[in-house]
Amino acid sequence: MTARDPDHRPGRAAAPRAVAKEAETLRAELDRHSYLYHVEARPQISDAQFDELFRRLQELERDHPDLITPDSPTQRVGAEPLEKLETVEHVAPMLSLDSTQDANEVRRFHDRVAKLLGEGIEPRYMLQPKLDGASIELVYEQGVLARAVTRGNGRAGEAVTMNVRTIASVPLRLRTEARPAPDLLALRGEVMMYISDFQNFNARLVERGAEPYASPRNSAAGAVRQLDSSITASRRLDVIVYDVLAADGTRFATDSAGVQAIREWGFKVPERTSVARSVEEILAYQASFAQVRDDLDYEIDGVVIKLDDLGARAAMGTTSHHPRWALAYKFPPRQEVTRIDKIDVQVGRTGVLTPVALLRPVVVGGVTVSRASLHNREELKRKDLREGDTVRIQRAGDVIPQVVEVVEKGAHRAAPFEMPSECPACGSRVVEDGPRTVCPNRFGCPAQLKGRIVHFSARDALDIEGLGDETANLLVESGFVRELAGLFDVTPEQLMELEGFAEKSAHALVAAIHARKVPELARFLIALGIPEVGVSVARDLAGQFGDFERIRAASREELEAVPGIGPRMSEAITDFFADARNQGAIFAVLARGVRPQSSEPVRTDLPDLGAAVFTGTLPVARVVAEDAWRRVGGKATGSVSKKTVFVVAGDDPGSKLEKAEKLGVEVLDFEGFVARLRELGGDLEV
Ligand code: IVH
Repeated sequence: MTARDPDHRPGRAAAPRAVAKEAETLRAELDRHSYLYHVEARPQISDAQFDELFRRLQELERDHPDLITPDSPTQRVGAEPLEKLETVEHVAPMLSLDSTQDANEVRRFHDRVAKLLGEGIEPRYMLQPKLDGASIELVYEQGVLARAVTRGNGRAGEAVTMNVRTIASVPLRLRTEARPAPDLLALRGEVMMYISDFQNFNARLVERGAEPYASPRNSAAGAVRQLDSSITASRRLDVIVYDVLAADGTRFATDSAGVQAIREWGFKVPERTSVARSVEEILAYQASFAQVRDDLDYEIDGVVIKLDDLGARAAMGTTSHHPRWALAYKFPPRQEVTRIDKIDVQVGRTGVLTPVALLRPVVVGGVTVSRASLHNREELKRKDLREGDTVRIQRAGDVIPQVVEVVEKGAHRAAPFEMPSECPACGSRVVEDGPRTVCPNRFGCPAQLKGRIVHFSARDALDIEGLGDETANLLVESGFVRELAGLFDVTPEQLMELEGFAEKSAHALVAAIHARKVPELARFLIALGIPEVGVSVARDLAGQFGDFERIRAASREELEAVPGIGPRMSEAITDFFADARNQGAIFAVLARGVRPQSSEPVRTDLPDLGAAVFTGTLPVARVVAEDAWRRVGGKATGSVSKKTVFVVAGDDPGSKLEKAEKLGVEVLDFEGFVARLRELGGDLEV
């Protein structure tokens, strides 16, 4: 080795075996101190000492790159930016939770559970805070973090592994002092951003003229879905894990045992987890959390009640949406009292006129609220809200703040507010559409164009950095942009005429606009602002059709074949594409060279070929082989049973091969597997 190593400097590098040993010791030490610091919050060494160990390991790895392991603490950052996030299936479905705010619903839930369990068996519940973060699946293979996947639609999500690797409280390798690592372990947790970090982060965004995030959850979700993991690494995030989705070779009798194992494998678990046997205990638990909620540095939106006995859970089963054995008991929305200084009218991108209360700023659950939508004239009339009134406002999750009621009428009360009869932006006569007031001048009203530009460039759409509310306003008012596609014709010289732009920022914005000319298909769909099509529908459409032209040409029946798309949505989508003016606007955007990316559609018409098990060392990564099998309609699991359709055995297969032979399950070698795939129209590149 020494002789072959061109970088070897005689007299400097230690003997390789000693170096390897030192690197291994450093890794173990760094992992341990990182765990003590980030998970247990009881550091044993100073940051400077930690950095010194870290630098020493970096030095060894730099001199001996063959020593680098994927789970080395030095490998948390530095992954190459991706072009797009891959969609991958979850090991086990990530269901939602049924939820309520009503104590009587909790009683009924308990009665249902008790009845299903039968006479004499008393339900025992696991109680946890309901963490308001971004849901994530963590998959460990042979104890090493193999992938991290967002919840997505519950069946498949986006692989954000390189981003999650940057989060220090996520072990890259399971701790195994207290219990061994299963071959395959899938866990579910929540990516959290602490409220204090969120506030700092938002303040910096606002300073830079960027759009702030609505909540710590949105901000955490945004950080996790970055294509460049160095951006994720620059945000302070944490992952709290609460559920074992699958653990190969390990069976837990109860959820409590599962959570204990999660703790032992080195994860942060929810604080103040508790158990209860009665509704009274559940209600008391929720009430006590409601009291401490405002003192926590992270958002919780209720508590989760889960049957502890996993056997009983299996007996109760799940609906397609949520398990029958769990319930989220949510807190009522946060409320504050403040004053309406003024009532303004805003025209949105769809032409709807919305009365907006401009409020005396007040902090509600960590976010400063200075305006609240008053929805429409009927709502305004019903609540009889007027300028100068003191009102109760509320904020539920990241929903736009609402005014609940008048607490105290203003002295010398103002006259009732009337909606204008003309659009405040373009002067067109407004029309009434049920309770809504609408400006009918769809393609001529500057406020609607401005709304479309903001929507087009928003974070979930084309994500054009530096193109927010104010700039959109300036572009429309100056006449530089007269239709959506005109955005692509804006020049740095034009921008420099606008307030707040200098040469550098003008070039940067033009570059940012042009950098988005090859958007992911889902983002492009969101950007178009098709009625009824939000983030998740857009992702489903993109996943199912794979190509913009196919979506545009799809019939209502074809659209409704996509799970989750009903008649209302299919009608909205086909109407949108049938509208001549929309066609013109889309044509103009595509004519500027915008090319939404196509992707392989996910096929749903596949037969269910059953579950295969992959074991031993294969010529490709196990996940790659599993994905190839899934793409032709199969499933992949970690343990062999009579239902297993076949086992693919690589080198050093171990106990799964023995079990397959014992049960008489077919065993294929890798070549046999590839041949089987090809028969089914699939393939695998080695
Ligand atoms: S249990 C299928 N426990 O809340 C049941 N979920 O609104 C497994 N969540 O999507 C979930 N804290 O991401 C569970 N302590 C907790 C939780 C929790 C937050 C999330 C979860 C779920 C969402 C439902």
